[in-house]
Amino acid sequence: MKKMNLVLMAAAVLLAACSSDTQEVDTYDPAHDYFSFANSDDFVTEHLALDLDVDFDSSELRGSATLVMRRLNEEAHEIILDTRDLAIDSVELISAAGTASALEYRFGDEDEVRGTPLIISLPGDLPVDETVDLRLIYSTSPESTALQWLPPELTAGGEHPLMFSQSQAIHARSWVPLQDTPAVRITYEASIRTPSELLAVMSANNDPLTPRGGAYHFEMPQPIPSYLLAIAVGNIFFAPLGEDTGIYAEPELLDDSVYEFADTQAMLELAEQMYGPYAWGRYDLLVLPPSFPYGGMENPRLSFITPSLLAGDRSLVSVIAHELAHSWSGNLVTNATWRDGWLNEGMTSYLDSRLMEIIYDKERADEERVLSYRELLLDLERVPPEMQALAPRLDTGDPDDFQGSIHYSKGQLFLQYLEETFGRDAFDEFLAAYFDEFAFQTITSERFLEYLDANLLQVMDRGVGREQVEAWLYEPGLPEDAPVPESATLTAAREAAIAWSRGDYATAEIPSADWSPHATVHFINSLADDLSTERLAELDAALGFSDTRNAEIGRAWFIQVAERRHTAAYDQLEKYLNRYGRGRLILPVYRALVENGEDAELARTIFENARSAYHPLVDAGIAKALE
Ligand code: BES
Ligand code: ZN
Repeated sequence: MKKMNLVLMAAAVLLAACSSDTQEVDTYDPAHDYFSFANSDDFVTEHLALDLDVDFDSSELRGSATLVMRRLNEEAHEIILDTRDLAIDSVELISAAGTASALEYRFGDEDEVRGTPLIISLPGDLPVDETVDLRLIYSTSPESTALQWLPPELTAGGEHPLMFSQSQAIHARSWVPLQDTPAVRITYEASIRTPSELLAVMSANNDPLTPRGGAYHFEMPQPIPSYLLAIAVGNIFFAPLGEDTGIYAEPELLDDSVYEFADTQAMLELAEQMYGPYAWGRYDLLVLPPSFPYGGMENPRLSFITPSLLAGDRSLVSVIAHELAHSWSGNLVTNATWRDGWLNEGMTSYLDSRLMEIIYDKERADEERVLSYRELLLDLERVPPEMQALAPRLDTGDPDDFQGSIHYSKGQLFLQYLEETFGRDAFDEFLAAYFDEFAFQTITSERFLEYLDANLLQVMDRGVGREQVEAWLYEPGLPEDAPVPESATLTAAREAAIAWSRGDYATAEIPSADWSPHATVHFINSLADDLSTERLAELDAALGFSDTRNAEIGRAWFIQVAERRHTAAYDQLEKYLNRYGRGRLILPVYRALVENGEDAELARTIFENARSAYHPLVDAGIAKALE
């Protein structure tokens, strides 16, 4: 029946296509960024100078952005920039002598995902290949999707407000008018004015000795894509970790952060040994309040980090290895469009896992590989086949909702497959050469394939050619010879869950003391479906899952609590949903409440009470899940 419908539909589509006079040709171009309005083939930005006031009273940035743009096409007389919710006061052309002349501009149609194009008309006599300086006087809206303005009560200290940005994927346009596409790289400088007691930091040269006072200047001499523009302002202090590494955080979080992330300097040194020189100067971490929507964000020189990693036992620091590894995969060699996101995220997941294996040990790295493989298998059940390719067609939707563990875990597995095929040494050498070859460039999946073909597939005959690689890039699911991650310790934890569920041994005999937090997560994920509420309560009393300080154990547990309607732990579940704001931790718990068929109303009530502390992006994601 289902098949029949598909055949009929296909026939109908064919008929429609043949009968229409103006037959539509598919003009999809995988190298085109469908999420930017910018005409970056006509004009390309080279440098950005920001001059901004940070106004906590109105939750606005106000000031100017000056774009240095090179003209590539002599026919083009308009510059189109990306914006979202920006108020533009004026656009001026700045002459070499520094005089400003006003330019005409207008907004195009607003798009819900992409924002609003800003179309600027230029005088006719600008020579090709020369640069023009455009100055835009503007202000952001309190609703800027990139910026979260936190009142003091949502910070650790509770006395000062704090503001931070999250530009990836396409939110830079909501705090700076620019060409918001990873295909364009810019250097930048910024003058930032804040209340005098607060410190500003950016994805640029933060000097740990900067005195407070409310006026800050930044330079970013290496060219970066717009999604790596970042700023935070708050009661932020610095503590060193190693020679080139350190932590920015509210003072209340500094000591815990220094303990938790003590291995950062070692990670940096190891990554340099393996993949070539670190190109960015210092590497610091900024530990944010709980509402930071992601685990981490690889803003260059200054990764933004969720405080939910502060488990007290360094068990969640693969996120640090991950954000650091982006200094090569992503920040140095950048995906051309979001469709090629696996080049950023899959490559980085592969690198972070390699770093974890050396800094800690193989057992730990294997545990992490198995956990992400499990998430991949779950996602492959959910994601439609055409979106299971590493490099699928992507011209609609929201790049923030796109891909999940396909880019991450399938990408990682693909590189692990290449490593196993060609050997670690050869593959490490290949990667180091790849980072060197494409440093400070953006590339497509197709360009990667070409480079791989020329430098590995054709050089070492291991029976793997373009065909096998193309299956990874363009086919759904996993190839038959894909690696299957294994971990003896996780297998033992899984077997313990099955045996305990069956009643083979008493709760007091669960060998949890021997387990890593990862093994505990796997144990929770492997509990039998038909456990009674009494047995769940018994487990919780013995192992303290509801009170865990480990956010990943809490995530696994409260997903189970919600799926199984273990209502005795619902108070704790609500506390969990108020303690964290990171999407990965809370969204699946809300989803599980809705999907158990009984608790959609409860989920809505909890959400209404908790949401003022959530980041707008996470808030929107949960609101959608609760619809
Ligand atoms: N660059 C991502 C975060 C991101 C991805 C933001 C897509 C916006 C759109 C970051 O490097 C990341 O992958 N974070 C992960 C951590 C990781 C260890 C998988 C996260 O936030 O969970
Ligand atoms: Zn990442």
